[in-house]
Amino acid sequence: MADNPGVVEVSDDTFGCIREMTPVRGFYVDNLLGDLWGTLAVANAPDGGVYPAGSVVQLVPGEVMVKHAPGFSPATRDWEFFELDTSATGTEIRKRGFADVVNRFGGNCLACHAKAEPKWDMICETGHGCDPIPLTRDILLLLQKTDPRCKDNPTLSPEEMGKLQALQQALQAQN
Ligand code: HEC
Repeated sequence: MADNPGVVEVSDDTFGCIREMTPVRGFYVDNLLGDLWGTLAVANAPDGGVYPAGSVVQLVPGEVMVKHAPGFSPATRDWEFFELDTSATGTEIRKRGFADVVNRFGGNCLACHAKAEPKWDMICETGHGCDPIPLTRDILLLLQKTDPRCKDNPTLSPEEMGKLQALQQALQAQN
């Protein structure tokens, strides 16, 4: 629980198995202030809206957006961006911040997410106006299925293993 009501506090322990969050289309949501209903209402609204404070949004295990209280960071519409290192022992926040967080592909989170039409509150999905990411739906699903923090990961087919290895090699080539 937050020490100060309405203040969104985030540490390594805030994050866990992505699939224990609530699925919305292809991504997952939660709310750190107990307002999951408010978060889901916006995520499911056909015309978008402003996500309530405490909202957590995650598509892949290593990247998260968390919504702070109104006015906390006007430049990012109160979103904080995180890059996480995940393993069977848990989560370590590798980077966090507002305008200057860069992901593993060398892209600035805000620069992309700010391109979403205003009504989507910086949530990109597909068709909201953001530049696309180099990950197909299959790969996104595979990353969700293999979150090392989850206890019940399904066994992968040889084809899935192949795709995952190709992605890991591509990522290593960039580093
Ligand atoms: C090249 C542009 C780009 C960059 C850089 C980028 N993203 Fe995204 N992000 C996207 C797109 C596009 C999607 C939606 C992909 C989909 O649903 O197929 C997305 C999805 C997400 C989602 C799921 C909610 C949504 O917006 O659809 C989160 C959370 C997220 N990104 C966080 C981050 C974080 C944190 C960083 C930086 C560490 C980051 N992103 C960097 C383009 C980007």
